[in-house]
Amino acid sequence: MSIDSAVIRRDFPIFGNEVNGKPLVYLDSANTSQKPNVVIDTMTKFMREAYAPINRSAYTLAANATEQYEGARAAVAKFINANNAREIVFTKNATEALNMIAFSWGRANLQRGDVVLLTHMEHHANIVPWQMLQQERGIELRWVPLTSDFQLDLSSLETLLAGVKVFSFTSMSNVLGTINPVEKLCAAAHAAGAIAIVDMCQSVPHAPTDVRASGADFAMFSSHKMCGPSGVGVLWGREALLEAMPPFLGGGNMISEVRLDGFTCAELPSKFEAGTPPIVEVIGLGAAVNYLTGVGMQNVRQHEIALSNYVLDLLQSRFGDDITIHGPRNPELRGATFSFAFRGIHPHDLSQVLDQSNVCVRAGHHCAKPLMKIIGANATTRASFYLYNTTEDADALADALDSASDIF
Ligand code: ALA
Repeated sequence: MSIDSAVIRRDFPIFGNEVNGKPLVYLDSANTSQKPNVVIDTMTKFMREAYAPINRSAYTLAANATEQYEGARAAVAKFINANNAREIVFTKNATEALNMIAFSWGRANLQRGDVVLLTHMEHHANIVPWQMLQQERGIELRWVPLTSDFQLDLSSLETLLAGVKVFSFTSMSNVLGTINPVEKLCAAAHAAGAIAIVDMCQSVPHAPTDVRASGADFAMFSSHKMCGPSGVGVLWGREALLEAMPPFLGGGNMISEVRLDGFTCAELPSKFEAGTPPIVEVIGLGAAVNYLTGVGMQNVRQHEIALSNYVLDLLQSRFGDDITIHGPRNPELRGATFSFAFRGIHPHDLSQVLDQSNVCVRAGHHCAKPLMKIIGANATTRASFYLYNTTEDADALADALDSASDIF
């Protein structure tokens, strides 16, 4: 393995706590990740010693807070290789970023009959805003289906893209773990005259990201899945598109001028950051980005490929036909997120039994109900691994699954 998770774990105070004398086996990072000391300490220090408003006041404390806030923006821009920090908009979360695009870009650019192409592996945040726009505007939604080995079925992509204005898809499925060919899909969208929106929530925390090279027009991701705090997400967009896009929320910070007869917008990115932003959280995200950069995103990816290999071999060799993993077998084509069915035990029951061994997994529909229906499951159990997980965590999962079999 390319990083030493035993060393990494020392950076995360939560792993120092045992529950009932057993270590914490946290396998729910696709849902939300644990936080390293540097993020916790940066946020606490800022609140204790340096808290102030940003962009509003001239005193030194406020100027320093603004500098830290904008420093975090610059760090995020570098982390994903954006053209510049003006392309980075801080939102409440990635869901808000997707809603911002659907409603702000969508209302300005989509009319009745226009087509938006989605895929069967999207989670609700990349489905429902478009369905809301469908109800409001009468746009048409089309869907890229799946193959039997849990990839996108691209055999009819050209036909599906004909006349499409927007192709919005995930870079990695939060249920199946499937990694999609982002560059190829963005190129296909552009060849058809569509813009490409890439939901990068599940890939930015786990692998190097280059938004410029990806060919995407807009992308979004969450702080809380990448060692940062909850309460802040990132919308990245090509500058010309963000310039042309109308504001989403109105209020303080997003204006240049307000008169009784109207307003003008602030420059990017303030134009899309109405009201007091999550100042502490943005600064925490900056610390998370610096932490991950220090570890090295290529190292994180290599670690997760090795771990995926281990998990797939372990679960298959130990449980054979008793376990069905809904996702690709090739670790190069997937992230370390494994949804599975086990011996007919309901995922909610299974997760409760795993919890008795301190093994934390997510059970349910994973905010992707249409996909669950397509793979023929009402619910699955999902174990998702990150940089702080070890082969011992995978062993603990397998042992806990065995003990669940004894109970049911
Ligand atoms: N946060 C959601 C998950 O657990 C979407 O995958």
